[in-house]
Amino acid sequence: MYELNENFSKFPGGYLFALVREKTLEYKRKNPQADIISLGVGDVTRPLAPAVVDALQKATAEQADAKTFRGYGPYAGYEFLREAICEKDFASRNVKIKPDEVFVNDGAKSDAGGISELFGKNNAVAVCDPTYPVYVDSNVLAGRAGIYSKEQNGYSDIVYLSCTKENGFLPQIPQEGQKVPSLIYLCFPNNPTGVMISKAKLQEWVDYAYENKSVILYDAAYVSFIESDDAPHTIYECDHAKECAIEMRSYSKTAGFTGLRLGYTVIPKELERNGLNLNEMWMRRLGVRYNGAPYIIQRAAEAIYTPEGEAQVKEQIQYYKQNTKTILTKLKGMGIEAFGGKDAPYVWMKTPNHMTSWEFFDFLLDKANVIGTPGSGFGSSGEGYFRLTGFGTKEQTLEALNRMTKIL
Ligand code: MLT
Repeated sequence: MYELNENFSKFPGGYLFALVREKTLEYKRKNPQADIISLGVGDVTRPLAPAVVDALQKATAEQADAKTFRGYGPYAGYEFLREAICEKDFASRNVKIKPDEVFVNDGAKSDAGGISELFGKNNAVAVCDPTYPVYVDSNVLAGRAGIYSKEQNGYSDIVYLSCTKENGFLPQIPQEGQKVPSLIYLCFPNNPTGVMISKAKLQEWVDYAYENKSVILYDAAYVSFIESDDAPHTIYECDHAKECAIEMRSYSKTAGFTGLRLGYTVIPKELERNGLNLNEMWMRRLGVRYNGAPYIIQRAAEAIYTPEGEAQVKEQIQYYKQNTKTILTKLKGMGIEAFGGKDAPYVWMKTPNHMTSWEFFDFLLDKANVIGTPGSGFGSSGEGYFRLTGFGTKEQTLEALNRMTKIL
Protein backbone atom coordinates (compact mmCIF):
# COMPACT_ATOMS: atom_id res chain seq x y z
CA MET A 1 0.00 0.00 0.00
CA TYR A 2 1.35 3.37 -1.03
CA GLU A 3 1.76 6.20 1.39
CA LEU A 4 1.99 9.65 -0.10
CA ASN A 5 2.97 12.87 1.63
CA GLU A 6 -0.44 13.55 3.18
CA ASN A 7 0.56 17.15 3.85
CA PHE A 8 -0.30 17.92 0.22
CA SER A 9 -3.96 17.47 1.13
CA LYS A 10 -3.66 20.30 3.65
CA PHE A 11 -3.39 22.96 0.96
CA PRO A 12 -6.76 24.68 0.47
CA GLY A 13 -5.97 25.29 -3.20
CA GLY A 14 -3.23 25.96 -5.73
CA TYR A 15 -0.12 28.13 -5.37
CA LEU A 16 -1.13 31.81 -5.36
CA PHE A 17 0.66 32.90 -8.53
CA ALA A 18 -0.44 29.75 -10.36
CA LEU A 19 -4.05 30.57 -9.43
CA VAL A 20 -3.68 34.10 -10.75
CA ARG A 21 -2.22 32.72 -13.96
CA GLU A 22 -5.05 30.18 -14.34
CA LYS A 23 -7.72 32.84 -13.82
CA THR A 24 -6.01 35.08 -16.36
CA LEU A 25 -5.79 32.30 -18.95
CA GLU A 26 -9.44 31.44 -18.41
CA TYR A 27 -10.42 35.07 -18.97
CA LYS A 28 -8.22 35.19 -22.06
CA ARG A 29 -9.90 32.05 -23.45
CA LYS A 30 -13.31 33.66 -23.04
CA ASN A 31 -12.12 37.10 -24.25
CA PRO A 32 -9.44 36.44 -26.86
CA GLN A 33 -9.38 40.12 -27.93
CA ALA A 34 -8.61 41.40 -24.45
CA ASP A 35 -5.33 43.31 -24.21
CA ILE A 36 -4.31 42.23 -20.74
CA ILE A 37 -1.62 44.05 -18.78
CA SER A 38 -0.05 42.19 -15.89
CA LEU A 39 1.11 44.04 -12.81
CA GLY A 40 0.67 40.78 -10.91
CA VAL A 41 3.56 38.39 -10.38
CA GLY A 42 6.84 40.22 -9.81
CA ASP A 43 8.45 39.24 -13.08
CA VAL A 44 10.90 41.67 -14.67
CA THR A 45 10.52 43.14 -18.15
CA ARG A 46 13.86 44.85 -18.88
CA PRO A 47 16.34 42.84 -20.95
CA LEU A 48 19.55 41.63 -19.33
CA ALA A 49 22.27 44.24 -18.82
CA PRO A 50 24.93 44.29 -21.60
CA ALA A 51 27.68 43.34 -19.11
CA VAL A 52 25.64 40.28 -18.13
CA VAL A 53 25.05 39.28 -21.75
CA ASP A 54 28.77 39.67 -22.48
CA ALA A 55 29.67 37.45 -19.57
CA LEU A 56 27.11 34.85 -20.67
CA GLN A 57 28.58 34.81 -24.16
CA LYS A 58 32.16 34.52 -22.94
CA ALA A 59 31.30 31.74 -20.53
CA THR A 60 29.36 29.92 -23.26
CA ALA A 61 32.40 30.12 -25.53
CA GLU A 62 34.53 28.65 -22.73
CA GLN A 63 32.10 25.76 -22.45
CA ALA A 64 32.46 25.18 -26.20
CA ASP A 65 36.23 24.72 -25.95
CA ALA A 66 37.78 21.51 -24.60
CA LYS A 67 40.53 23.52 -22.89
CA THR A 68 38.15 25.63 -20.84
CA PHE A 69 35.12 23.38 -20.60
CA ARG A 70 33.80 22.82 -17.05
CA GLY A 71 31.51 20.08 -15.82
CA TYR A 72 30.22 19.82 -12.25
CA GLY A 73 31.11 22.91 -10.27
CA PRO A 74 31.50 23.32 -6.51
CA TYR A 75 28.25 22.52 -4.67
CA ALA A 76 28.10 25.93 -3.03
CA GLY A 77 29.25 28.01 -6.00
CA TYR A 78 32.49 29.12 -7.62
CA GLU A 79 34.98 31.06 -5.50
CA PHE A 80 35.02 33.95 -8.00
CA LEU A 81 31.35 34.66 -7.31
CA ARG A 82 31.38 33.94 -3.59
CA GLU A 83 34.30 36.32 -3.15
CA ALA A 84 32.62 39.05 -5.19
CA ILE A 85 29.47 38.64 -3.05
CA CYS A 86 31.44 38.95 0.21
CA GLU A 87 33.21 42.05 -0.98
CA LYS A 88 30.44 43.89 -2.79
CA ASP A 89 27.29 42.90 -0.92
CA PHE A 90 28.73 42.72 2.60
CA ALA A 91 32.20 44.26 3.09
CA SER A 92 30.83 47.40 1.43
CA ARG A 93 28.38 47.61 4.37
CA ASN A 94 31.16 46.88 6.90
CA VAL A 95 29.90 43.35 7.38
CA LYS A 96 32.38 40.50 7.32
CA ILE A 97 31.01 37.42 5.58
CA LYS A 98 33.43 34.71 4.41
CA PRO A 99 33.08 32.91 1.06
CA ASP A 100 32.47 29.58 2.80
CA GLU A 101 29.41 31.12 4.45
CA VAL A 102 27.84 31.83 1.05
CA PHE A 103 25.84 29.15 -0.79
CA VAL A 104 25.00 30.00 -4.39
CA ASN A 105 21.71 28.51 -5.58
CA ASP A 106 19.42 28.44 -8.62
CA GLY A 107 17.25 31.30 -7.36
CA ALA A 108 16.21 32.29 -3.86
CA LYS A 109 12.91 30.43 -4.03
CA SER A 110 14.69 27.06 -3.93
CA ASP A 111 16.28 27.89 -0.59
CA ALA A 112 13.33 29.87 0.77
CA GLY A 113 11.38 26.64 0.29
CA GLY A 114 14.19 24.24 1.20
CA ILE A 115 15.78 25.92 4.21
CA SER A 116 13.25 24.48 6.63
CA GLU A 117 14.83 21.05 6.04
CA LEU A 118 17.46 22.09 8.56
CA PHE A 119 14.90 22.07 11.33
CA GLY A 120 12.83 19.49 13.17
CA LYS A 121 9.16 18.94 12.53
CA ASN A 122 7.96 20.25 15.86
CA ASN A 123 9.43 23.73 15.71
CA ALA A 124 6.91 26.56 15.83
CA VAL A 125 7.09 28.76 12.74
CA ALA A 126 6.24 32.47 12.63
CA VAL A 127 5.48 34.40 9.47
CA CYS A 128 4.32 37.92 8.79
CA ASP A 129 0.69 38.17 7.76
CA PRO A 130 0.53 38.96 4.83
CA THR A 131 3.55 36.99 3.65
CA TYR A 132 5.24 35.53 0.58
CA PRO A 133 3.34 32.20 0.34
CA VAL A 134 6.45 30.02 -0.07
CA TYR A 135 7.34 30.34 3.63
CA VAL A 136 3.99 28.91 4.71
CA ASP A 137 3.57 26.37 1.92
CA SER A 138 7.01 24.81 2.44
CA ASN A 139 6.21 24.35 6.12
CA VAL A 140 2.86 22.80 5.21
CA LEU A 141 4.74 20.21 3.17
CA ALA A 142 7.13 19.64 6.06
CA GLY A 143 4.18 18.92 8.38
CA ARG A 144 4.73 21.93 10.64
CA ALA A 145 1.65 23.98 9.78
CA GLY A 146 -1.22 22.01 11.32
CA ILE A 147 -4.74 22.25 9.91
CA TYR A 148 -5.98 24.89 7.49
CA SER A 149 -9.05 26.88 8.50
CA LYS A 150 -11.03 28.56 5.74
CA GLU A 151 -12.65 31.04 8.15
CA GLN A 152 -9.27 32.17 9.43
CA ASN A 153 -7.47 31.78 6.10
CA GLY A 154 -4.57 30.23 7.99
CA TYR A 155 -3.07 27.15 9.66
CA SER A 156 -3.53 26.14 13.29
CA ASP A 157 0.17 25.76 14.15
CA ILE A 158 1.64 28.77 12.35
CA VAL A 159 2.23 31.91 14.39
CA TYR A 160 0.90 34.79 12.26
CA LEU A 161 2.45 38.19 12.93
CA SER A 162 -0.25 40.53 11.77
CA CYS A 163 1.03 43.46 9.70
CA THR A 164 -1.66 46.09 9.35
CA LYS A 165 -2.01 49.75 8.55
CA GLU A 166 -2.21 50.41 12.31
CA ASN A 167 1.26 48.96 12.99
CA GLY A 168 2.83 50.34 9.82
CA PHE A 169 2.75 46.82 8.30
CA LEU A 170 5.59 45.80 10.63
CA PRO A 171 5.47 42.52 12.59
CA GLN A 172 5.22 42.91 16.36
CA ILE A 173 7.43 40.80 18.63
CA PRO A 174 5.38 38.16 20.53
CA GLN A 175 4.54 39.28 24.06
CA GLU A 176 5.52 37.39 27.19
CA GLY A 177 3.28 34.36 27.57
CA GLN A 178 2.75 34.04 23.81
CA LYS A 179 4.22 31.10 21.89
CA VAL A 180 7.94 31.58 21.14
CA PRO A 181 8.57 30.61 17.52
CA SER A 182 11.78 28.70 16.76
CA LEU A 183 11.76 29.80 13.12
CA ILE A 184 10.89 33.36 12.17
CA TYR A 185 10.54 34.33 8.51
CA LEU A 186 11.13 38.01 7.84
CA CYS A 187 11.30 39.65 4.43
CA PHE A 188 12.55 43.22 4.04
CA PRO A 189 12.03 45.16 1.85
CA ASN A 190 8.74 43.41 2.25
CA ASN A 191 6.88 41.31 -0.22
CA PRO A 192 3.91 41.94 -0.54
CA THR A 193 3.42 45.24 1.36
CA GLY A 194 6.48 46.99 -0.05
CA VAL A 195 7.41 48.50 3.34
CA MET A 196 10.91 48.54 4.84
CA ILE A 197 12.02 48.04 8.44
CA SER A 198 14.46 50.37 10.21
CA LYS A 199 17.73 49.02 11.55
CA ALA A 200 16.60 49.69 15.14
CA LYS A 201 13.40 47.66 14.65
CA LEU A 202 15.24 44.81 12.97
CA GLN A 203 17.72 44.80 15.86
CA GLU A 204 14.76 44.22 18.21
CA TRP A 205 13.89 41.08 16.26
CA VAL A 206 17.50 39.92 16.28
CA ASP A 207 17.68 40.50 20.06
CA TYR A 208 14.50 38.48 20.49
CA ALA A 209 15.78 35.60 18.36
CA TYR A 210 19.18 35.67 20.05
CA GLU A 211 17.67 35.56 23.55
CA ASN A 212 15.15 32.84 22.70
CA LYS A 213 17.47 30.74 20.52
CA SER A 214 15.13 31.17 17.56
CA VAL A 215 16.48 31.38 14.02
CA ILE A 216 15.46 34.22 11.70
CA LEU A 217 15.16 33.31 8.04
CA TYR A 218 15.70 36.70 6.45
CA ASP A 219 14.69 37.18 2.85
CA ALA A 220 16.45 40.22 1.37
CA ALA A 221 15.48 39.57 -2.26
CA TYR A 222 14.53 43.22 -2.83
CA VAL A 223 17.53 44.87 -1.18
CA SER A 224 18.53 46.77 -4.35
CA PHE A 225 15.38 48.87 -4.10
CA ILE A 226 16.23 50.38 -0.73
CA GLU A 227 16.52 54.15 -0.64
CA SER A 228 15.71 55.01 3.02
CA ASP A 229 18.80 56.08 4.98
CA ASP A 230 18.09 54.15 8.17
CA ALA A 231 17.32 50.88 6.36
CA PRO A 232 19.59 47.87 6.95
CA HIS A 233 20.92 46.36 3.70
CA THR A 234 21.64 43.05 5.39
CA ILE A 235 20.48 41.59 8.69
CA TYR A 236 24.14 41.14 9.62
CA GLU A 237 24.36 44.88 10.22
CA CYS A 238 22.57 44.00 13.48
CA ASP A 239 24.54 42.86 16.52
CA HIS A 240 24.47 39.10 17.15
CA ALA A 241 22.68 38.38 13.85
CA LYS A 242 25.37 35.91 12.84
CA GLU A 243 24.42 33.78 15.81
CA CYS A 244 20.72 33.68 14.97
CA ALA A 245 20.02 34.53 11.31
CA ILE A 246 20.21 33.08 7.82
CA GLU A 247 19.92 35.53 4.93
CA MET A 248 18.63 34.81 1.43
CA ARG A 249 19.32 36.92 -1.64
CA SER A 250 18.23 36.80 -5.25
CA TYR A 251 19.54 38.07 -8.57
CA SER A 252 16.03 37.91 -10.05
CA LYS A 253 14.95 41.38 -9.12
CA THR A 254 18.42 42.86 -8.62
CA ALA A 255 19.61 42.07 -12.12
CA GLY A 256 16.65 40.67 -14.04
CA PHE A 257 17.60 37.00 -13.58
CA THR A 258 14.02 35.67 -13.27
CA GLY A 259 14.70 33.60 -16.39
CA LEU A 260 18.37 32.81 -15.71
CA ARG A 261 17.81 31.68 -12.08
CA LEU A 262 20.47 32.50 -9.49
CA GLY A 263 20.55 33.55 -5.86
CA TYR A 264 22.42 32.76 -2.68
CA THR A 265 21.99 32.00 0.98
CA VAL A 266 24.32 33.07 3.78
CA ILE A 267 24.69 30.77 6.77
CA PRO A 268 27.30 32.14 9.18
CA LYS A 269 29.70 29.70 10.82
CA GLU A 270 28.66 31.05 14.22
CA LEU A 271 25.12 29.72 13.80
CA GLU A 272 24.76 26.65 15.99
CA ARG A 273 21.85 24.92 17.67
CA ASN A 274 21.88 21.82 19.88
CA GLY A 275 25.63 21.47 19.31
CA LEU A 276 25.19 21.29 15.53
CA ASN A 277 26.57 23.78 13.04
CA LEU A 278 23.94 24.92 10.53
CA ASN A 279 26.53 25.92 7.92
CA GLU A 280 27.95 22.37 7.97
CA MET A 281 24.47 20.85 7.91
CA TRP A 282 23.52 22.88 4.84
CA MET A 283 26.73 21.84 3.09
CA ARG A 284 25.88 18.22 3.85
CA ARG A 285 22.37 18.76 2.51
CA LEU A 286 23.75 20.26 -0.72
CA GLY A 287 25.69 17.05 -1.31
CA VAL A 288 22.36 15.22 -1.34
CA ARG A 289 20.28 17.70 -3.30
CA TYR A 290 22.40 19.83 -5.55
CA ASN A 291 25.32 19.80 -7.98
CA GLY A 292 25.87 23.53 -8.09
CA ALA A 293 24.42 26.35 -10.18
CA PRO A 294 25.46 26.56 -13.85
CA TYR A 295 28.93 28.02 -14.45
CA ILE A 296 27.63 30.29 -17.21
CA ILE A 297 25.01 31.87 -14.96
CA GLN A 298 27.49 32.36 -12.14
CA ARG A 299 29.79 34.24 -14.53
CA ALA A 300 26.78 36.35 -15.53
CA ALA A 301 26.17 37.23 -11.87
CA GLU A 302 29.83 38.07 -11.36
CA ALA A 303 29.49 40.66 -14.13
CA ILE A 304 27.01 42.72 -12.12
CA TYR A 305 29.77 43.41 -9.59
CA THR A 306 31.97 45.10 -12.22
CA PRO A 307 31.70 48.92 -12.48
CA GLU A 308 29.83 48.71 -15.84
CA GLY A 309 27.56 45.91 -14.66
CA GLU A 310 26.80 47.71 -11.42
CA ALA A 311 25.85 50.91 -13.27
CA GLN A 312 23.68 49.03 -15.76
CA VAL A 313 21.67 47.13 -13.18
CA LYS A 314 21.25 50.30 -11.12
CA GLU A 315 19.66 51.87 -14.17
CA GLN A 316 17.21 48.97 -14.41
CA ILE A 317 16.25 49.39 -10.78
CA GLN A 318 15.68 53.12 -11.34
CA TYR A 319 13.41 52.26 -14.27
CA TYR A 320 11.23 50.03 -12.08
CA LYS A 321 11.29 52.57 -9.28
CA GLN A 322 9.91 55.15 -11.67
CA ASN A 323 7.02 52.79 -12.43
CA THR A 324 6.35 52.36 -8.75
CA LYS A 325 6.24 56.15 -8.34
CA THR A 326 3.77 56.35 -11.23
CA ILE A 327 1.55 53.77 -9.55
CA LEU A 328 1.65 55.59 -6.20
CA THR A 329 0.95 59.01 -7.74
CA LYS A 330 -1.90 57.77 -9.89
CA LEU A 331 -3.54 55.84 -7.05
CA LYS A 332 -3.30 58.91 -4.87
CA GLY A 333 -4.98 60.89 -7.66
CA MET A 334 -7.86 58.39 -7.55
CA GLY A 335 -8.13 58.88 -3.79
CA ILE A 336 -7.00 55.33 -3.09
CA GLU A 337 -4.86 54.56 -0.05
CA ALA A 338 -1.58 52.94 -1.00
CA PHE A 339 1.53 51.89 0.91
CA GLY A 340 5.07 50.68 0.26
CA GLY A 341 6.69 51.36 -3.09
CA LYS A 342 9.58 53.45 -1.74
CA ASP A 343 12.14 50.81 -0.81
CA ALA A 344 10.51 47.98 -2.76
CA PRO A 345 9.00 47.34 -6.19
CA TYR A 346 5.56 46.61 -4.72
CA VAL A 347 2.65 48.91 -3.95
CA TRP A 348 0.05 47.69 -1.47
CA MET A 349 -3.25 49.38 -2.23
CA LYS A 350 -6.54 49.31 -0.35
CA THR A 351 -9.30 47.86 -2.51
CA PRO A 352 -11.99 50.45 -3.32
CA ASN A 353 -15.63 50.27 -2.24
CA HIS A 354 -14.97 47.58 0.37
CA MET A 355 -14.42 44.94 -2.28
CA THR A 356 -12.63 41.78 -1.15
CA SER A 357 -9.22 41.21 -2.70
CA TRP A 358 -10.52 38.57 -5.14
CA GLU A 359 -13.62 40.62 -6.01
CA PHE A 360 -11.33 43.49 -6.93
CA PHE A 361 -9.11 41.13 -8.95
CA ASP A 362 -12.14 40.03 -11.03
CA PHE A 363 -13.43 43.59 -11.33
CA LEU A 364 -10.10 44.96 -12.52
CA LEU A 365 -9.53 42.11 -14.94
CA ASP A 366 -13.00 42.46 -16.39
CA LYS A 367 -13.33 46.24 -16.53
CA ALA A 368 -9.72 47.29 -17.23
CA ASN A 369 -7.99 44.08 -18.36
CA VAL A 370 -5.38 44.69 -15.66
CA ILE A 371 -3.93 41.95 -13.44
CA GLY A 372 -2.69 42.43 -9.91
CA THR A 373 -2.28 40.07 -6.96
CA PRO A 374 -5.11 39.73 -4.41
CA GLY A 375 -3.88 40.64 -0.93
CA SER A 376 -5.79 37.81 0.77
CA GLY A 377 -3.64 35.34 -1.18
CA PHE A 378 -0.77 36.44 1.07
CA GLY A 379 -2.70 35.87 4.30
CA SER A 380 -5.81 36.92 6.17
CA SER A 381 -4.46 40.38 7.05
CA GLY A 382 -4.09 40.96 3.32
CA GLU A 383 -7.87 40.83 2.83
CA GLY A 384 -9.10 44.11 1.39
CA TYR A 385 -5.72 44.86 -0.16
CA PHE A 386 -4.24 44.36 -3.59
CA ARG A 387 -0.59 44.26 -4.74
CA LEU A 388 0.67 46.03 -7.86
CA THR A 389 4.22 45.55 -9.11
CA GLY A 390 6.55 48.12 -10.65
CA PHE A 391 8.20 45.44 -12.82
CA GLY A 392 6.06 46.13 -15.90
CA THR A 393 7.25 48.27 -18.76
CA LYS A 394 6.86 52.04 -18.41
CA GLU A 395 4.21 52.10 -21.14
CA GLN A 396 2.20 49.20 -19.72
CA THR A 397 2.30 50.68 -16.24
CA LEU A 398 1.02 54.03 -17.42
CA GLU A 399 -1.66 52.43 -19.56
CA ALA A 400 -2.79 50.16 -16.71
CA LEU A 401 -3.09 53.08 -14.31
CA ASN A 402 -4.91 55.21 -16.90
CA ARG A 403 -7.41 52.42 -17.40
CA MET A 404 -7.84 52.15 -13.65
CA THR A 405 -8.42 55.90 -13.38
CA LYS A 406 -11.31 55.60 -15.83
CA ILE A 407 -13.15 52.94 -13.83
CA LEU A 408 -12.36 53.92 -10.23
C1 MLT B 1 6.25 37.68 -6.42
O1 MLT B 1 5.58 38.17 -7.32
O2 MLT B 1 5.94 37.72 -5.22
C2 MLT B 1 7.50 37.00 -6.81
O3 MLT B 1 7.88 37.34 -8.06
C3 MLT B 1 7.28 35.56 -6.78
C4 MLT B 1 8.58 34.86 -6.67
O4 MLT B 1 9.63 35.48 -6.59
O5 MLT B 1 8.51 33.64 -6.60
